[in-house]
Amino acid sequence: MLKAVRGTRDLLPPDTDLWNRVEAKVRDVMERYNFHEIRTPIFEDTQLFSRSVGEETDIVSKEMFTWEDRSRAIPAVPVLEVASGTRGRFSGQSLTLRPENTAGVVRAYIEHRLGDKGTLQKLYYIGPQFRRERPQKGRYRQFYQIGAEIIGPPSAGSESPIHDAEILEMLATLLDEVGLRDWQLQLNSVGGADDRARYNQALREALKPLLHQMCADCQRRAETNPLRVLDCKVPKDQPIIEKLPKVSEYLGEASREHFAAVGAMLDTVGIPYTINERMVRGLDYYTRTTFEFTHGGLGAQSAVLGGGRYDGLSESLEGPKAPGIGFAIGEDRLILALQSQGETIVEKLRAYIAPLGSGMNPHALKLARELRREGVSVDIGDEVFRLKRSFELAEKAGARFIVIVGENEVAAGQFAVKNLATAEQVQVQRAELAAYLKDSNPQPRKS
Ligand code: HAM
Repeated sequence: MLKAVRGTRDLLPPDTDLWNRVEAKVRDVMERYNFHEIRTPIFEDTQLFSRSVGEETDIVSKEMFTWEDRSRAIPAVPVLEVASGTRGRFSGQSLTLRPENTAGVVRAYIEHRLGDKGTLQKLYYIGPQFRRERPQKGRYRQFYQIGAEIIGPPSAGSESPIHDAEILEMLATLLDEVGLRDWQLQLNSVGGADDRARYNQALREALKPLLHQMCADCQRRAETNPLRVLDCKVPKDQPIIEKLPKVSEYLGEASREHFAAVGAMLDTVGIPYTINERMVRGLDYYTRTTFEFTHGGLGAQSAVLGGGRYDGLSESLEGPKAPGIGFAIGEDRLILALQSQGETIVEKLRAYIAPLGSGMNPHALKLARELRREGVSVDIGDEVFRLKRSFELAEKAGARFIVIVGENEVAAGQFAVKNLATAEQVQVQRAELAAYLKDSNPQPRKS
């Protein structure tokens, strides 16, 4: 039997009802904060990720789904020759399924010259991302992110700490409004480009005498990109990493002030956080503020979301100066965390229409059509079912009411409506039916 590929999964009802409710809430919150949706392609030129996320990160060095494009290169020969059988060569362009969406957003910002508008671009996205990680609970090879970015020219205020605080405050509101309880915000500053260079140098020196005790990845990274040593998960390296210099000791005046301003604004609006100096995040483009929100219901993969500032990213992709800050929520993990709190969706089907007896299907379909157009959620049976079978199917469908459509009902223009929770049965005039089905509020059904 063919099955979904390892690390991918089908999302099925009723779980998808919870996914949709979360996404509807996200769109509602985004609108209130003046974010607008961007949709970038699911695959991009591989270089986009190696140059932004960084060659030495786990994501780029181990986890990307990359292939060589086999479409024909645009032929440099006249069309007639191609038609008569001259073979074009493969373009050989290296393409990659996006492992994250910030790089794609910044590429689009540069490509469409969004900076020329002179305002901040507040962009959000919801969509699948792909990383070849070892699958486990909360970690998949195809997973979904809900993310947002604020990016723009410095003249529009893109460097201001108010936007770091705005993003964090929005996240706190969003998580509260989707109903996630007991999240924790961890905050850090990895410094500006100058601070980073000094910190990297300090790490390189501190690591030199220790490297022979460390894993092969650390030995290589200590040279190429020492900050990535802090991402190492090898247990025997952890005590060594704990004792390495801390990034806060290498922050310059400007970075320290920026970070202090973010913290002060969070204090003012009453958002609790803890500072975690080891949190450098697994992507190279970050500068200054970085953060993660964690949740206890997730086990080992406890980060519901992560993000931070990336003031030099646009320039490293040959774009204009365009500081930015953003985040991505792991939607799979957010749903798991909500489910760990017992979150489910209450059924929404109001009525099951049961045609009773031969020739009643057209009447049932007509009534269903009218009620649906009047805004009632309705499902239908089939005239071949006996009444008992219709009741069973209505129960299974999770309907609140069953509406019987028999010859007598159609002739009289009034229908027998039974409340499946209370077993109460009433006759309702056709004209009042939609209002009755929508408004009556019976006791919740026992499952
Ligand atoms: P990230 O920390 O790599 O950041 O991913 C963000 C979130 O995506 C993680 O906190 C986690 O919840 C979820 N996630 C990552 N990998 C997986 C996986 N294999 N399975 C399930 N969930 C996963 C970024 O991607 C940055 N682009 C965030 C950002 C936006 N920074 C600035 N702007």
